[in-house]
Amino acid sequence: MRAEKKSETVLDYEERGQVTVANDSEALADMAATLIAKTAVHAKDESRVAYVALSGGSTPKRMGQLLASAPFASEVHWDRLVFFWGDERWVPLSSPESNAGEAKRTFLDLVPVPAGQVHPFDTSLDNPAAAASNMADLIRETVPGSPVPRFDLILLGMGDDGHTASLFPGTEAIQEQESLVIAHYIEKLDAERLTFTPALINAAKHVVFLVGGAGKAATLHHVLDGGIDVDRLPSQVIRPVDGTLTWMVDRAAAAELERNDLDD
Ligand code: 6PG
Repeated sequence: MRAEKKSETVLDYEERGQVTVANDSEALADMAATLIAKTAVHAKDESRVAYVALSGGSTPKRMGQLLASAPFASEVHWDRLVFFWGDERWVPLSSPESNAGEAKRTFLDLVPVPAGQVHPFDTSLDNPAAAASNMADLIRETVPGSPVPRFDLILLGMGDDGHTASLFPGTEAIQEQESLVIAHYIEKLDAERLTFTPALINAAKHVVFLVGGAGKAATLHHVLDGGIDVDRLPSQVIRPVDGTLTWMVDRAAAAELERNDLDD
């Protein structure tokens, strides 16, 4: 969307994805906002809407702030985008902990996306399992694709421990192949989480990890350069079946990658 050319480097990690390295966290957030804008353009060109799942985390937050400001706010084809979240905490939408609540307050309530095209988990239901099954039903009714609904774009973050969405190390959810969405209790957080499963995420057309900051460098190196151990590093379970996998990272996060020969 912006006129100036941004310098970025692409590292080919073959089946583990294409890694696009942005100069800094601001360039990374801009890259993510531009991706959302392009996803809408592509859907408009094909006279359809695009189904997008957002994630929680710091880079999506900055992405949202950019999307709520010029030029994105007025130029994005908001009516072409339908929003979901890949994971959620068991808190009300009004909580600062709510991924959907944060995205609504940061940008979705400030731009002209039709209200009927924003689908947070319903955390006002009786329990997390009910919210997960309600979301799975909504996705089956709304998002095209069979046997598994196929999102156009799923944005993910990666935690320092290698988790993604709310697929945490050592949890059964990592191996889930039947359900699209599950609720589970995460012992180390002492909290309930709702999450898309690998089966749903891996059916998407495009899955994009947004990873920024020096604190992620060692884990990113293990996930991309190391052996596969999905129970320890759940981000490694993300392998789109018939789609593309992209890692959008900043130089600080890319610093330990073996295929990265950028100067620091
Ligand atoms: C959540 C997220 C989670 C997040 C990562 C990375 O709700 O906690 O969905 O998976 O994306 O922990 O978060 P940061 O980008 O803030 O490091």
